Amino acid sequence: MTSSHEPVRRLSLVPDTDDPAPNPHATAEEVAAALEDTKLAQVLYHDWEAETYDDKWSISYDERCIDYARGRFDAVAGKQHLPYGRALELGCGTGFFLLNLMQAGVAEKGSVTDLSPGMVKVALRNAANLGLDVDGRVADAEGIPYEDNTFDLVVGHAVLHHIPDVEQALREVLRVLKPGGRFVFAGEPSTVGNFYARWLSRMTWEATTNVTKVSFLNGWRRPQAELDESSRAAALEAVVDLHTFSPADLERIATAAGAAGVHAHSEEFAAAMLGWPVRTFQAAVPAEKLGWGWAKFAFGGWRTLTWVDEKILRHVVPRGFFYNVLITGVKPS
Ligand SMILES: C[S@@+](CC[C@H](N)C(=O)[O-])C[C@H]1O[C@@H](n2cnc3c(N)ncnc32)[C@H](O)[C@@H]1O
Repeated sequence: MTSSHEPVRRLSLVPDTDDPAPNPHATAEEVAAALEDTKLAQVLYHDWEAETYDDKWSISYDERCIDYARGRFDAVAGKQHLPYGRALELGCGTGFFLLNLMQAGVAEKGSVTDLSPGMVKVALRNAANLGLDVDGRVADAEGIPYEDNTFDLVVGHAVLHHIPDVEQALREVLRVLKPGGRFVFAGEPSTVGNFYARWLSRMTWEATTNVTKVSFLNGWRRPQAELDESSRAAALEAVVDLHTFSPADLERIATAAGAAGVHAHSEEFAAAMLGWPVRTFQAAVPAEKLGWGWAKFAFGGWRTLTWVDEKILRHVVPRGFFYNVLITGVKPS
C-alpha cells in the first residue's frame, strides 16, 4: 500500500505552488495562529531558524560532526554491514545527521525531508556543497511521500519529539523501508533530562541577559530587537516540543508500530549539564565575543564529561536520567 497522506505542500499554511517557500520572518499574527496549530508552529519556528541553525548548534560537516553522527549511529545500531544503499532522513533540519552519516560511509544515496521548507533548502545546499548524492522534499513524517519498500535505512535526529503521533510516523517509516531495512533515531530528550536541561537553560538565559544590562558589560549584550525576536521564537518552542521519552517509552512505541529487533539506548548525563548552559550562553551574547578559546573549552569540556558519563556514570545512574535517547529497529522481513 502506498501512503494516502498528502505531501505537506498541499497544506494551507504554505502557498499553493509546487515548492513551498521558506518564511523566515513570521508576523505577530502568524505566531498567534501557530500557538493553536503545532504544525504551523513547526514550520514558522524552523523556517525562522534555518539560515542560522548550523551556527546556533555548532553544526559542521567536518571530522568533529562526522565522528559525532557516526558515534550515535554505532551506539544504538551496533556493528552493521555498511554502506546502506538508499537512506531517508525525517526532520532533516540542515542535514546534520544524514549528510554526516553519508560522509562517514553509512549510506551511498540520501533523501532529506522536513516539514520546514527553509530547512530542506539549507540541507540541499549543504549536500551540494559537500558533493553528496542527495535529493529532498518538504514532507510530514506522519505521511511520508514515498512509495512502499523504497529505503534501506531511515534516520532522524531530534525529530520524534516534535511529531504529534510518533507511532503513526514509525508506521510510515516501516512502510517506506524495504523488508529487513533499519531505522535509527537519535537525540531525543528524556523526560528527566529535559527537566534539568530546561531549568539550566532558563537560569543561564536570565543570568546572562540581566548581567549584561550593567553598563560596563553592555558590549556583551545582543541588540534588544534580536533578544525580542529570540523571546518570540522561544514562545513557539513550547508549542513545537511535544514529547519527552524514557528509553522504555520509545521501545514500546516502536514495537507497537510493528518494528522488530527494537532497542533503545541513552547517553549524556554530566555532558548535558554542561552542554545546555554553554549553548544558551552562546545564544545570549554576540557571536563575535566568543572566540577559539571558548570553542575549545566547550568542546573539550563536553568530550571529557562524555568520557566520565560512559566510563563511570553509566554504571551508577539509571538509564532514564541520561539526556539523549536513541532507538533502532528493523522492518520484519
Ligand atoms: C530540532 S530540529 C532537528 C533538525 C536536525 N535533525 C538536527 O538534528 O539538527 C527538528 C526538525 O524536525 C522538523 N519537524 C518537526 N515536525 C515535523 C514533522 N511532523 N515532520 C517532519 N519534520 C518535522 C522541524 O522542522 C525541524 O527541522
